[in-house]
Amino acid sequence: MYAFDIATDAPKAELYAELLKAADALTAGEADGIANMANISALIWQFVPELNWVGFYRMVGGELVLGPFQGKSACIRIPLTKGVCGAAARTGETQLVEDVHAFPGHIACDAASRSELVVPVKRDGVVIAVIDLDSPLPARFDAEDAKGIEALANLLASRI
Ligand code: SME
Repeated sequence: MYAFDIATDAPKAELYAELLKAADALTAGEADGIANMANISALIWQFVPELNWVGFYRMVGGELVLGPFQGKSACIRIPLTKGVCGAAARTGETQLVEDVHAFPGHIACDAASRSELVVPVKRDGVVIAVIDLDSPLPARFDAEDAKGIEALANLLASRI
């Protein structure tokens, strides 16, 4: 059992610093990428408030394929031309979407989702996966959330 104690009402910078430390401790020395993605999904789900879905899509054969996640069952394959995840994987840039209904091509895996943050995970400059966070609240994510999840993506680049 791993017991992490992170105050979910802490300022975001603090919450993400603690999350990064916990993620480092959880994945250090573990070579299995699936296990690491599964544990990191659970960690984000437990400590980042107001989410209805969080997880990984992996680049497999030129498209995104569902990886470990928390939340309702989701779309399995996403072409790079589609959705917020596809945009993150195609451009290699973080996508911060305040209102998913206004994002052309958004894929509604869970109808409850209103805002979304997708961060690419890059190894040697190549996108190998994306981390996707969905919230039922509009404009749930800001630049601090993006920075926090980007730090996590950097840490995980060689561990998934
Ligand atoms: N909404 C995403 C699809 C993945 S689900 O939210 C889990 C998108 O538009 O890429």
